[in-house]
Amino acid sequence: MAKKKRVLTGDRPTGPLHLGHYVGTLANRVRLQDKYEVFLLIADYHALTTKPEKADILAAREYIREIVLDYLAVGIDPEKTTIYVQSDVPEVCELALLFSMLVTLPRVERIPTLKDMIRDQKIENPSMGLMLYPILQAADILHVKAEIVPVGKDQESHVELCREIARRFNSLYGEVFPEPEALIGDVPTLPGIDGRAKMSKSLGNAIFLSDPPEEVARKVMQMFTDPIRIRPDIPADPDAPHNVVFRYHEAFNDDQAEVEELKARYRQGKVGDVEVKKRLIAALERFLAPIRERRAYYAARPHLIDEILAAGAAKVRPISQATLAEAREAMGLSARPLAELKARYL
Ligand code: TRP
Repeated sequence: MAKKKRVLTGDRPTGPLHLGHYVGTLANRVRLQDKYEVFLLIADYHALTTKPEKADILAAREYIREIVLDYLAVGIDPEKTTIYVQSDVPEVCELALLFSMLVTLPRVERIPTLKDMIRDQKIENPSMGLMLYPILQAADILHVKAEIVPVGKDQESHVELCREIARRFNSLYGEVFPEPEALIGDVPTLPGIDGRAKMSKSLGNAIFLSDPPEEVARKVMQMFTDPIRIRPDIPADPDAPHNVVFRYHEAFNDDQAEVEELKARYRQGKVGDVEVKKRLIAALERFLAPIRERRAYYAARPHLIDEILAAGAAKVRPISQATLAEAREAMGLSARPLAELKARYL
């Protein structure tokens, strides 16, 4: 039987996951785990590149657990998907160091994803760690020889650098690495509850997967609505992109006939915003209730989280060691016992 292709992606532990993550990537990851060998890493080294204070690190440790709960809650199955914390597999750092010799500083400085990060977070003097960000990400991908990297459009330029690194390494030292492909989700970005283009924790416009029902209801009731509709009898266009309540209906309501019916009445000026929102609250509850239930199950059993992360690291580490041994041998660095590692893990 042909080996399953490997897929790797991950998240920085900077906050719990929200509905935008769900449509953007989580739903996709749940689907992929049936067909591929999937690795999900929680990138705590990457979080350090912009948040190295001790308080930030301790907060990130909490977020790691929240993110694992979010993964499990949406249906990521730890039997199929290997979930691990980046710094539990420190071999990735050695690979990143080796890769860093193959990339020039001006090349890193040109990466749009990194430039945006530096601009958005108003970082005046980027650390060396931050400049290594994309190289470390390439090492994340290549240390398990992942061939598919499901990410948002904003991460595309990092995957492009990863491909360049793989090509350059292979041409200098021989074929070791695959050239991974970014798998960019084709879902439109979910807007925030304030009507801004993108749901994001830092913009404070997110509905989190872990929000309790009252919180979800409160957020929906304060959702941005069409400013021309000062009365419910004013006809308006539900398909206008700024009518975010309908964007959520489209993404999450399991009763699309209801959505069509609401849209028809909205166009005729025969439905109030409050009704549209109340029905969205009900739809979101149908969607979130089972997620909340699974989350509560694991939240009540914290040892399971520890076990999942320990098992994940135990699975990835030897793969990482085998890849590293192979890379070192290809480069002519001092040998490590490769044949056995390779037979078992690559
Ligand atoms: N940089 C990614 C983000 O911020 C997280 C990440 C780290 C990642 N390593 C990765 C994503 C490897 C895909 C593959 O979202």
